[in-house]
Amino acid sequence: MYLSRRGLLYGSAGVAAVSLSGCGIGGEDDKQLTGFTGISMPTDTSERWVIEGKALEANLKELGYDVVHSNAKDVVEDQISQIQSMVDEGVEFLIVAAIDNKSLGQVLAAAKDKGVTVISYDRLILETPDVDYYASFDNYQVGVLQATHIIDRLGIRDNEGPFNLEIFSGDLGDNNSQYFFMGGLDTFESLLYSGKVVIPSGQTEQDPTSTAGWSGDVAKERMDTLIKEYYSDDRELHAVLSPYDGISRGIVAALVENDYEPGTAGFPVVTGQDAEAASVKAIKDGTGQTETVFKDTRQLAHTVTGMVQAIVEGGEPEVNDLGTYDNGFKFVPSLLLDPVDVTAENYVEVIVESEYLTEEQIDAGEA
Ligand code: GAL
Repeated sequence: MYLSRRGLLYGSAGVAAVSLSGCGIGGEDDKQLTGFTGISMPTDTSERWVIEGKALEANLKELGYDVVHSNAKDVVEDQISQIQSMVDEGVEFLIVAAIDNKSLGQVLAAAKDKGVTVISYDRLILETPDVDYYASFDNYQVGVLQATHIIDRLGIRDNEGPFNLEIFSGDLGDNNSQYFFMGGLDTFESLLYSGKVVIPSGQTEQDPTSTAGWSGDVAKERMDTLIKEYYSDDRELHAVLSPYDGISRGIVAALVENDYEPGTAGFPVVTGQDAEAASVKAIKDGTGQTETVFKDTRQLAHTVTGMVQAIVEGGEPEVNDLGTYDNGFKFVPSLLLDPVDVTAENYVEVIVESEYLTEEQIDAGEA
């Protein structure tokens, strides 16, 4: 496990950008780099990866760099072979968002043999020395924001409780899942300890709460089972900690099927992440989850483009964290951006005014 404790992450937040002397990869190479880059995205079932793949491609092309771009659509073997063909085509840079964080060691070793600079995009690639940089958001803080929303919305600190909570976590093959999970659980820690918050299912570990493939359908099924097993005797369910909007919508669908009515006081507080249009619509209309965490992925794509450009131009990419993300071989130099909590109160300012989504897209529930 590559668990990083709260202290470390809090310690890293807000650290000024530092440069990495001696870590520049391409800059020290004699050969003039052209910026030829391979982009490997993991899935097309969640809208962000499709949008970001396109944004990265457009940004890099605007700089005059050649790009090969693929989306492995949740098939690990396809991602490996797509990356291998990028290496065979002679890319100098790889930007990879892994489906399964432990499956890319061999193909990245082949890339390293050819001097390719590897940037782990949003999801840290584990158990290989052949990752040069990591760019993402403060993933632990995402979990903190979600849990804090539940605590504030239910007024848990000012009420006696106990409050019944269930937890969902992300795909086990994605390194981010444990950070979201830990951020959430650590935030609830003292409340769980004092008994003010209770998890009736007893499912408090990452494994039983995980959601294969980040799938809404998988989440829906688990929520349905939890309701039937633990909430059939009039026990109230007050909140569901959900790590991602697609999962949240699955949870809400199961709740609705089990006669919980969105918008009423008896409907559990459900969190989320990614500011997907359908979820922001539910937040706006009061028809499901009440929170999501916005990560400005345009900024992430821009930052990673800047990393490639810096190296092509003989410099070093900017990073702001050297001691949090241990991939099993090393602490990977990282650039972490800030996630933002979104509710009905601030979605206009955060999502619409920043032009991430228009009101029309939100109303249509589609980006
Ligand atoms: C994670 C990512 C989340 C969400 C999830 C499902 O790796 O950090 O923002 O997109 O994948 O796609």
